[in-house]
Amino acid sequence: VFPLILGTDVSGVVAAVGEDVSGFKVGDEVFAMVRFPEYVMKGSGAYAEYVRVSASEVAIKPSGIEHIQAGGAPMSLLTAWQFLVELGHDAPNPFQSFPHAPIPLDRKIVVINGAGGGVGHLAVQVAKWKGARVIAVASGKHEALLRELGADQFIDYTTTSVEAAVQDVDLVIDAVGGPNMERFLRVLKRGGALYLVNPLGFSGHEEAARREITVSSTQVRSNGAHLAEAGRLLDDGTIRVVIDSVYPLAEASAAHQRASHGRIQGKIVLSVV
Ligand SMILES: NC(=O)c1ccc[n+]([C@@H]2O[C@H](COP(=O)([O-])OP(=O)(O)OC[C@H]3O[C@@H](n4cnc5c(N)ncnc54)[C@H](OP(=O)(O)O)[C@@H]3O)[C@@H](O)[C@H]2O)c1
Repeated sequence: VFPLILGTDVSGVVAAVGEDVSGFKVGDEVFAMVRFPEYVMKGSGAYAEYVRVSASEVAIKPSGIEHIQAGGAPMSLLTAWQFLVELGHDAPNPFQSFPHAPIPLDRKIVVINGAGGGVGHLAVQVAKWKGARVIAVASGKHEALLRELGADQFIDYTTTSVEAAVQDVDLVIDAVGGPNMERFLRVLKRGGALYLVNPLGFSGHEEAARREITVSSTQVRSNGAHLAEAGRLLDDGTIRVVIDSVYPLAEASAAHQRASHGRIQGKIVLSVV
């Protein structure tokens, strides 16, 4: 379906509203994840100066943060929110036959793999806010940041395997995916849960059943109400969006190259001003 306009996340100023829209007006500063996942194959159209978005997907931008931070938030924050706090919809789950159901996190031990990335660094902060003891797994360069964001323990996966370092945890959230996700089953206690943000290729369902571990995934969905709720945490500084780098919109391909090299800390943002 070419040509298509990439991108899902926006933060900006309302230029016009539809006739039946209440709750937003011209001039409001807002942020949103645009038409996801419905438009994932057609292009959600966020890499643009002007974006059309359903009012139900929009929230007022937290006044305490800039558009750069707010523009980095929607997909990663909604993913952390819908995995860890509230699913918020009953759309069919493309990854499994049952709906994803977040477990209570208060006083739970939670391992977050990929903790330096977009989803991971927000998951660390959301889990802390929910009262969990958080063990962050990432390469060493992210340790100082993740401790500052609230991680109670840090594991550098380039020198230490998570299975060797911790056991009997309540929840592992893997925000990386790829080969050998099954290893996380050995980190969990009986009755624990493994959340796979990118579940493709996971083959440990039989072992999980033997260990009475719930393996669950979901696909993030646009949700303005969730952004408004999570936005309060951004506003009062309970959580923050870490910016890896900012590129002008015209240099989007350089931003994609930066992303393809990995080792991202937080979010890459495109700026139109
Ligand atoms: N289910 C959904 O709806 C949904 C929504 C959003 C994203 N996703 C998926 O979730 C994944 C993460 O997305 P993202 O936007 O957070 O990506 P990202 O910002 O690129 O972060 C990925 C992080 O993983 C770390 N990493 C790479 N290899 C690792 C390894 N072997 N062990 C531990 N950490 C490793 C990288 O940093 P270091 O190597 O420097 O530590 C990087 O910080 C992607 O696969 C994405 O497609 C799914």
